[in-house]
Amino acid sequence: MKAIFLGATKGMGRALSRLIARRGDELFLLGRDREDLDKSCADLAADGTRPAGTAPCDLADPRTFAPALDQAILTLGGRVDAVIVTAGLFATQDALESNPELCRSVLDVDFTGTVLFCEEARKRLIAQGGGTLCVFSSVAGERGRKPVVLYGAAKAGLSHYLEGLDHRYRAEGLHVVTVKPGFVKTGLTAGLKPPPFAGEPEDVAARVLKAIDRKQPVVYAPAAWGPIMAVIRSLPRFVMRRVGF
Ligand SMILES: NC(=O)c1ccc[n+]([C@@H]2O[C@H](COP(=O)([O-])OP(=O)(O)OC[C@H]3O[C@@H](n4cnc5c(N)ncnc54)[C@H](OP(=O)(O)O)[C@@H]3O)[C@@H](O)[C@H]2O)c1
Repeated sequence: MKAIFLGATKGMGRALSRLIARRGDELFLLGRDREDLDKSCADLAADGTRPAGTAPCDLADPRTFAPALDQAILTLGGRVDAVIVTAGLFATQDALESNPELCRSVLDVDFTGTVLFCEEARKRLIAQGGGTLCVFSSVAGERGRKPVVLYGAAKAGLSHYLEGLDHRYRAEGLHVVTVKPGFVKTGLTAGLKPPPFAGEPEDVAARVLKAIDRKQPVVYAPAAWGPIMAVIRSLPRFVMRRVGF
């Protein structure tokens, strides 16, 4: 597989890119910090395969999207099998409510920036005859919930967009893989109390890579979050109001 990867520098992105590099697939890394990208390239080279290159891409700056994708596709020989987006921001509900600037930034990066990046990616994938677009959303987008009102709203919008893309462009060869992680132990959740079904990035990565290979439209990770969210989705509103979840 030849893949463009945005978000390989940390957390689940780092674990997933390692798995991909280990099996000898070719990656091109996008990210907002040149030093972090160089360090990730060195790590991946030690693990398996050195990425073909890197380019600056910041989800907060849509002007970076087209040049980064074009450079990646050119470097990978004019055709890619997948574009993978694990990049994203998180802050607690309390932090977001008390800091409008932080709130704007999380909403911008997790919804507007990610959607605009995906638009540039899907145009290029369809122009070459098809490919896979794998994007990390969240179980936080499944229902309006007290602890994640704002972050969840951005992820709900993103999941909705990705489902629409799947319906609209599947016949043209676009395969959308929407990843909905539950709580996973990464830097993003550092300092939060892990719930009983908290997952490890390496386990999520293995599950997501299988989903990419199978072109599975939606994947919950860890697996336990699939049935948990099926229950949450079915709860009546008056029950949701009473529970802290
Ligand atoms: N961990 C969880 O429990 C959990 C649960 C549900 C959903 N998710 C979602 O899963 C994805 C991965 O989460 P994670 O836990 O692996 O997070 P993480 O460890 O914090 O890593 C986030 C990645 O996103 C990149 N990033 C952040 N802002 C960016 C920007 N403006 N432009 C480009 N890259 C940017 C970071 O790059 P830098 O090195 O530049 O910071 C980093 O590589 C995110 O979309 C997150 O919302 C996570």
